[in-house]
Amino acid sequence: MADLFFLIGRDGVDIDANFVKSKFNDSTTVISVHLPSYSPSVGMDRDEWANAHHQHGLDLARVESELKLRDVVLFTIPNPTQTYLGMLQVWNSPSSVYDIDSVRIPWEEVKEHLKRTEPEKAKGWKPDPRNNPAGKNPTNFWHFSTLPARQKPVPTLFGPSEVLPITISSGLEKELIERILNAHSSANDCIYVWGGDGDLKDMKEICASMGRDFNAVPSGTPDELVPIPVPIDDLPVSVTADPIVIDGSKPQGANEGNIVSIMAYIQDCRDGLASLPEGVLSHGVTSPPYNIGYDPFNEPKPDATGALVVPVREGYEDSLSPGQYASLLKSTFDGMDEKADETGFELFLNIKSNYADASCDLPFYMLRLMPERWKLLDVLIWRYDISFDPGRGKYKPLYEWVIRVGFGDVKLPAMGMLDWYIPILKGNSDERKNLKHPAMFPRELVNRCLTESARNASMVVDPFLGSGTTLSACLEMGVNAVGFELSETFVSDIKERFTWVKHIGDGNLKQV
Ligand SMILES: C[S@@+](CC[C@H](N)C(=O)[O-])C[C@H]1O[C@@H](n2cnc3c(N)ncnc32)[C@H](O)[C@@H]1O
Repeated sequence: MADLFFLIGRDGVDIDANFVKSKFNDSTTVISVHLPSYSPSVGMDRDEWANAHHQHGLDLARVESELKLRDVVLFTIPNPTQTYLGMLQVWNSPSSVYDIDSVRIPWEEVKEHLKRTEPEKAKGWKPDPRNNPAGKNPTNFWHFSTLPARQKPVPTLFGPSEVLPITISSGLEKELIERILNAHSSANDCIYVWGGDGDLKDMKEICASMGRDFNAVPSGTPDELVPIPVPIDDLPVSVTADPIVIDGSKPQGANEGNIVSIMAYIQDCRDGLASLPEGVLSHGVTSPPYNIGYDPFNEPKPDATGALVVPVREGYEDSLSPGQYASLLKSTFDGMDEKADETGFELFLNIKSNYADASCDLPFYMLRLMPERWKLLDVLIWRYDISFDPGRGKYKPLYEWVIRVGFGDVKLPAMGMLDWYIPILKGNSDERKNLKHPAMFPRELVNRCLTESARNASMVVDPFLGSGTTLSACLEMGVNAVGFELSETFVSDIKERFTWVKHIGDGNLKQV
């Protein structure tokens, strides 16, 4: 018999951590509902995200049965008060039966939906192992109710419901709970719930209707919060005596007298940042190296003769030790902070969770590498519509994070955690076909970040330029920008991307 813990939360009451952990075994699953705290004056709680392993008073990273964070599912909140999105953490033992498909919409449900809505299409329809019939994959982003955000949601097969959702006492949708119970438990399994009195009553009813055994988790003494240490090893500073300079500057719009300054330097960003003038940076938009050794691309694949060869990704080395990687990030954050405008600076850091070794590593430990004065302003979601990774032959998450941090005179929205749907630059698109870089973000993402900031952008920096997307987006917006890229391989990409900018904006972020 499997146990499922469903942790919703109780204000002002501590969980009995020892009771919960005494019940853990190899087939236990813990679902932790995380409704992030947010305030329009300071943003999010930096520690809450940096210590995401400490959930509802349980240190889930340090339990004897070695639970692992297997996946994170984002879901829309029907009546949001602080954030538009919530997060479900799924923890269980790597030896238990779990794969990412368990958080997906089951194929039978897809077929039933088709039968109701498009009966013609349903005839002879077979599950497509790569995607659902609408061409979109409703994966670890669960979209239930209408999102009151600015951005229209992507039209997935299971788009926002027209009717008002049924919610339990705390505001979670009943459908979300039923989907979890279906995916992670069977009839007669034991469901332990940590929730307020109203939630306990509602959950008891749901469990009874689904033939599950209901139990309330008792209150008691929680686990102490002990941050997971981030190791920092030395990384040699590579001094680039004569960086290659790529000048993409152009006259700005109708006013030929104004020049948009766009400069790319092929050099280590730590050297490059050090050479910038004091107080020059108003914003940063970047996506650091993933540091995952680029496995999907390194796996041997057959060549034209059928022989298995490891594909060569020229110039893309992405496998520092964790300590060296932390050191690179820390010195880059410090380098930006040293050259930041003292009145205000914001960084938009695009990063994804790393799925490896049957677990999902969240990137929020990076907050602990940032200067003390940087606040966690918001956590934004960049969602796209491709979730099949051909390299691994597997589904991958449908979204990435954009961590918004900064200090000083910044403008925050009334609610946090917006969901942005922005398609990736597809491999067969004209803009991409001559480019070498394997991990580009779209220009639109840079535009959206700077527009979200709603502050004058006097100089944007991207320390990890890759193909130079940030610079070409800034050129398009008419905003000055500077960036650094370690590998000479991407010089041609950076130059090529400038040629795709046909219209130079006037620097007014709201109008682009
Ligand atoms: C994830 S990619 C950035 C992709 C970029 N956002 C784009 O749209 O093309 C990270 C890049 O950082 C570069 N990089 C790694 N270490 C660096 C360093 N110390 N200084 C500058 N660039 C570095 C890598 O070569 C890689 O191209």
